[in-house]
Amino acid sequence: MISLNGKVAVVTGAARGLGQGIAIKLASLGAHVVVSDMNQEGAEMTVSQILEKGYSAEIKICNVADKDEARLLIEDTAKKHGKLDILVNNAGINRDSLLHKMNHEQWDAVIGVNLTGVFNTMQPASAIMREQENGRIVNISSASWLGNVGQANYAAAKAGVVGITKTAARELGRKNVTCNAICPGFIDTDMTRGVPDKVWDLMISKIPMGRAGKPEDVANCIAFLVSDQASYINGEVINVGGGMVL
Ligand code: NAI
Repeated sequence: MISLNGKVAVVTGAARGLGQGIAIKLASLGAHVVVSDMNQEGAEMTVSQILEKGYSAEIKICNVADKDEARLLIEDTAKKHGKLDILVNNAGINRDSLLHKMNHEQWDAVIGVNLTGVFNTMQPASAIMREQENGRIVNISSASWLGNVGQANYAAAKAGVVGITKTAARELGRKNVTCNAICPGFIDTDMTRGVPDKVWDLMISKIPMGRAGKPEDVANCIAFLVSDQASYINGEVINVGGGMVL
């Protein structure tokens, strides 16, 4: 049985979708969860859901693409609670377009949130976790990091997330800090509900399990990775996709 009693966790992009599922799961296992997002209303709903169940959470509004806001998110949390045990970098966006039509706004927006946003929180978090000689970082990459039509920006950012994850694993391992990445396959959230029906059906047809994943499917894997049981798993990139990528 996994217990996260007494742990302090930050989850970015936790107003809905995967981030919400992750925040609720970690809180249900005993962690105090800092629910962070740009979307205040959604973040408040996540916090209410956690508190209603008798678990522990607070809200911190933060745009992870803004380096000062991201630094404050991490440093204020550590200052307030005296430590930061867990960081889950989940916030992400997509701005899909074929490469020859993709403009720089689409490129910059996705790189800014999905890649630079991960650096923006990991940089201050790694300083804190090194110092306390304890920590768990999980970054949400994507099966798309291997390349996906219409997602040059997204795939590049998510491949970058794998790179920063493996680098952090090498740099921080000796300090008892692990860093791993999860590659969700096709999970039923507002992001994927945005695709046309034809694309939805095509994606499902590629999944051996014949269904989209649920946020809980991803959250369960993360709960294990941030637990004491996973203390020797470091620098891994784990697919949670029902066999979509084999
Ligand atoms: P979603 O669009 O439902 O939720 C994303 C959340 O991130 C939203 O609450 C949004 O407000 C927040 N967010 C966006 N930009 C932000 C910023 N600059 N700062 C702080 N928060 C911000 O997306 P979903 O599906 O829950 O995805 C979560 C993560 O999982 C993303 O990183 C996504 O790329 C990744 N992913 C999702 C897959 C899926 O099938 N749903 C598959 C593979 C990866």
